[in-house]
Parts: sequence; C-alpha cells; structure tokens
Amino acid sequence: MARVVLGMIGLGTVGSGVVQLLAQHKHLQLKKIAVRDLQKERAANPTCPITENVSEIIDDPEIEVLVEVMGGEEPALTYIRRALEKRKHVVTANKEVLAKHGPSLFQLAREKGVTIFFEASVAGGIPLISTIQRGLGANQFAAVTGILNGTTNFILSNMEEKGLSYDSVLAEAQRLGFAEADPSADVDGHDVAYKLSILAALSFQRFVKPEDIYREGIRNITPDDLALAKEFGYRIKLVGTARNTDPKNKAGALAVRVHPTLVPLAHPLAAVSGSSNCILVNGDAVGEIIMVGPGAGSLPTASAVVGDIINLESALKLPDFASYFQPSITSEWSKTASPDDWTSPYFLRLSVKDTPGVIGTIGTIFGEHKISIQSIIQRGVADRRATIVILTHDVRSGNMEAALADLKKCEFLDSVASAIRIYKAA
Ligand SMILES: NC(=O)c1ccc[n+]([C@@H]2O[C@H](COP(=O)([O-])OP(=O)(O)OC[C@H]3O[C@@H](n4cnc5c(N)ncnc54)[C@H](OP(=O)(O)O)[C@@H]3O)[C@@H](O)[C@H]2O)c1
Repeated sequence: MARVVLGMIGLGTVGSGVVQLLAQHKHLQLKKIAVRDLQKERAANPTCPITENVSEIIDDPEIEVLVEVMGGEEPALTYIRRALEKRKHVVTANKEVLAKHGPSLFQLAREKGVTIFFEASVAGGIPLISTIQRGLGANQFAAVTGILNGTTNFILSNMEEKGLSYDSVLAEAQRLGFAEADPSADVDGHDVAYKLSILAALSFQRFVKPEDIYREGIRNITPDDLALAKEFGYRIKLVGTARNTDPKNKAGALAVRVHPTLVPLAHPLAAVSGSSNCILVNGDAVGEIIMVGPGAGSLPTASAVVGDIINLESALKLPDFASYFQPSITSEWSKTASPDDWTSPYFLRLSVKDTPGVIGTIGTIFGEHKISIQSIIQRGVADRRATIVILTHDVRSGNMEAALADLKKCEFLDSVASAIRIYKAA
C-alpha cells in the first residue's frame, strides 16, 4: 500500500497520543516531528527524527500532510499558511487559529486545492465535526448547543458535589492537571468561544469573530448559586450556543454565546459531570442529536487527529477530493445578533436589607420592564440582611439589564449577587 508521508509540529499531550496511535498504522509514515525544545523529556518515544527546525517539515516536498498539534495563534498560523501555500494538506487540533483566521485559511486551502481537517479542534475525541459536516449534511441547522469545556465542567461539578468554593476547586483541578496554571482561557469562556466560532462555520457556513461572541465565565459562580439552583431543580453548567436567528436568511445574524446556564436536572446536559463534553445538534430533518464523550486528553484527542489522517489517506486516492472534505464556508465573517434581544428565563440572587416593602418594590420594577416572576423566596435573614432568590419567566435580556439597573438604585439593595440565564431549548 502507498504510504502517506506526514510531518508533525508538536509532541506534547496530543502529539504523544498521535505517535502512539500511528504506531498501529504502518502505512502512515511520520517522517519528522518539530518541537520547541529538543532537550525536554517526552512521554512518547517516536522512531522518526525530531527537530527544532520547523522548515525541515514545511519545506520537505515528500511530506504531503502537516499535522499541527502545537497550539496557540502564532507561529502556528504562519506554519499552517506556509504548508497550505506548498499544497500540503493540514490536520490541526488548533481551535484558536481556526476561530481567529478560519475564513482566510479555508480560502487559501481552496485556492491551493488542498484541505484542512480539524476534527480534534472541538470536543476532543467526539466525532462532532465529521458528523455535522457529512453525516448530517442533509440538514439545515437551528442550533448547536453544548458543554464544550471539560475544565469548567469539572470545576462546577466538584463545587456542587463538595460544596467547595471556586478557588479551592480550581486549585485542585490545577494540581490534578485538569486546569492550566493560567486558567483564563477555560474559566473565562475563550476556549468555548473559539469552538463556537468553528461550529457556527460548519453549521451556518460562516465563522464568527471570537470577539463578537458573548462571553461570561464561571469565576463568579458560588456554592450558594449551585445549591439554590439544585433546590429549584437545576444544575449550573457553562453552556455554549450558536443559533441561527433567521433560518430563512442565509446572511442573517447568528446568536453565539457562552455563559453559565441553569439546566433542568432531567436534561441530558445536566447529567454530564467531570471533564466530559456534551453537544446537542438540532437539524430540521434529523431532529435533535446528542453526543457525549471525552472532550480532551492525549488519546481521545489523538483519536480525532489520526481519524482525520485516515480519512485523508482514503481521500488522497480520489481525484479532486478536496471539495468533498472542504466545508463550504464563506470567506466573510458572520454578523451577530444583539444579546439584548435574546430571551430566556432568569435565576437571580439578590442581597438586600431586610426592610418592609422590598418584595413589593421588586415586583413593581419587574412589572415596569415586562418581567414576570415564576417564583420568589427569601432566605438567610441575619443582621437585618436577607437573600432573595427569584426565577422569572421568559424575559428579553435587555429588559432584565434595565430592571437590574433600576433595582441597583434602590436603597435596600446591597448587591445583585447573581443573574444567570435558565436553559431554553432550541
Ligand atoms: N490537550 C488536550 O486535551 C487537547 C484537546 C483538544 C485539542 N487540543 C489542542 O491540541 C493542540 C496541542 O495541545 P497540547 O495539549 O498537546 O499542547 P502541549 O502539551 O502544550 O504541546 C505543545 C507542543 O507543541 C510544541 N511547540 C510549541 N511551540 C512550538 C514552536 N514554536 N515550534 C515547534 N514546536 C512547538 C511543544 O514543544 P516542546 O514540547 O518542546 O515545548 C509541545 O511539544 C492545541 O491546539 C490544543 O488546543 C488539545
């Protein structure tokens, strides 16, 4: 059998898994690996040479496929561009590069008649990209929603189960290697935003600039929020959604957002604990598909990378196969819908002075902003302070913001401790 000759940049968590899996596929020849520091100890022991000079891979005419598992924006972007220019196919796990530069990279790949495979860039080992792109290719999509970050899911699950603070669970996650020393990409929602941009491109043919994606992270979630949510029959998850607000208009605005969300306990998203990912895809023909599995890790992610290489290997035998594997993505960035216009129910936790008339005033202000209350309870009266927990019916986010601004002018309000959206099905 003809060999496919590969060059790889990166031999860290994912690269080591790729080396391990490729050892079982002798016809896929890994010719050379580039790393940053040759002196580093490695989890994997590849049989091919390792170099610090990336050009030895990119400029080698025998190498047909660049496997990019180094991560980050630069120099990964430059290396991918150089490889595409030289008509090499690219297999990448790099969500950041694709989310920030997807339109120009896919355009370049089209011009050069090569493809970019990126199964590992979203949801690690779950074959989500190929499912949307090919298995569900007959569908128009209404929305893609999910838990797309294992680190934050691990933190929220542990906070809820153990009643511990965000800081102490984060420290434990860092100790166990589930969270980075600088956790901001995960806990502030950037990682999910990158993945949503890629999912929007696949589902709606348009990338969304990561900075246009509405983003709230989990730093402010407290054990109180998690316990109160549970009392009302919910679990708090960091949920990302990309939704087409106007399915009849191909250039219509997309609502793309990541924020903590109260999910009903009976919903499949609520059952996903620890570092797993779970994605719901809504297609007009198929209905709702749910996929759950490992969203990260050396071998699960390598499974997606090597799966891409195997697909590519079969495709290389066909004439002009690039158009089949190349998703049809426009080179324009998508418009995004204003977050003010989204509607969902809300969970609110207010810290107030325990004085007469508080609940009446809240009711009046909410009425003025067309907010209807589903339930309201008062808790923890001590030192003339109380906590009021409110669940609303569906409300426009802009109205909720205006109501909270009015509440903050009230003398009795100490703080709006939490304002978290409640899950609303697509
Ligand atoms: N880890 C996961 O579970 C997971 C899941 C899904 C997707 N991904 C994506 O997969 C990619 C790789 O992640 P990872 O966790 O494997 O990262 P990692 O463990 O930090 O490994 C990165 C590798 O890239 C090499 N590298 C970095 N900069 C380089 C440069 N300028 N030139 C040459 N080599 C360079 C590093 O070399 P040295 O070893 O010499 O420093 C290292 O071997 C990222 O895009 C990430 O988002 C990861």
